[in-house]
Amino acid sequence: MDLQLTGKRVLVTGASKGIGLAIVRAFLAEGAVVTAASRRRTPELDATGATFVAADLSEPDGPRRMVETVLATDPRLDVLVNNAGGGTMPDGAFDDPLDGKDVDWAGAFALNLGSAVEATRAALPALTESRGVIVNISSDTARRPVGVPLQYAAAKAALNAFSRGLAEKVAASGVRVNVVTPSGTRTNLMEGGDGYIAQVAAHLGIDHADLLTAMPGQNGMLTGTLIDPDEIARAVLLLSSPTMPSAIGSNWVVDAGALKTA
Ligand SMILES: NC(=O)c1ccc[n+]([C@@H]2O[C@H](COP(=O)([O-])OP(=O)(O)OC[C@H]3O[C@@H](n4cnc5c(N)ncnc54)[C@H](OP(=O)(O)O)[C@@H]3O)[C@@H](O)[C@H]2O)c1
Repeated sequence: MDLQLTGKRVLVTGASKGIGLAIVRAFLAEGAVVTAASRRRTPELDATGATFVAADLSEPDGPRRMVETVLATDPRLDVLVNNAGGGTMPDGAFDDPLDGKDVDWAGAFALNLGSAVEATRAALPALTESRGVIVNISSDTARRPVGVPLQYAAAKAALNAFSRGLAEKVAASGVRVNVVTPSGTRTNLMEGGDGYIAQVAAHLGIDHADLLTAMPGQNGMLTGTLIDPDEIARAVLLLSSPTMPSAIGSNWVVDAGALKTA
């Protein structure tokens, strides 16, 4: 199937590893011209050949500066993938019903919502010119805020509302906005020693590997295993494709059945 992505100019955030890296590789394999943004580059990202832009998207000016840098090289932009995000539990917050202080909430919202809002604000004129596409990466925890930092789940729920509302507002100008919602996916967030699951395991005094094995089943994922990042990337490709002009305001759940709603 030709997704008609050859030559499209794509910006992917949170691209140095995990789901973002898989999205970069997937677009490149389709012949797209990809710019990848994150705070640090990795050998894996460098190996893709994508252009790298360093950006801290939690900083108020980070998203705007990232987009300006990308557009300074070429003013055309066809696809913006707002993937940067994540969440860990603040130190000492496991026994706090609010999962952390106001500064922790502000940080989670800055990364998981603000970065997408501000990157979109900066990129929208170029995307309007190209009749382009925005894909935002959410999380099943937006709709199942259990067993995760509350501020992360709340920020992702806000990202869903932002995305759906924006889709309505910009559709007439030819810009399509959609969301992909993963459940537990095999990335550093899950498997890393500094990721959230490692934190939970340490808090419970159990083995990280054992918790990782049990987690998909506990979360109701019907495959019983974590999702491959490439699978999330394929959903992003399809939603970004000009062959899907009616995909507007959708939220594509790739969760192995974890969300038990119709
Ligand atoms: N993995 C899962 O199970 C899962 C499930 C549902 C949703 N998601 C969502 O999927 C997206 C990707 O997650 P992932 O699992 O691939 O995470 P990951 O492996 O931890 O990768 C996160 C990426 O975001 C970048 N990043 C983090 N903070 C940043 C900042 N302040 N500014 C710019 N870039 C930043 C990281 O690079 P640097 O550290 O170099 O900046 C990295 O490239 C996130 O939005 C996450 O919420 C993941």
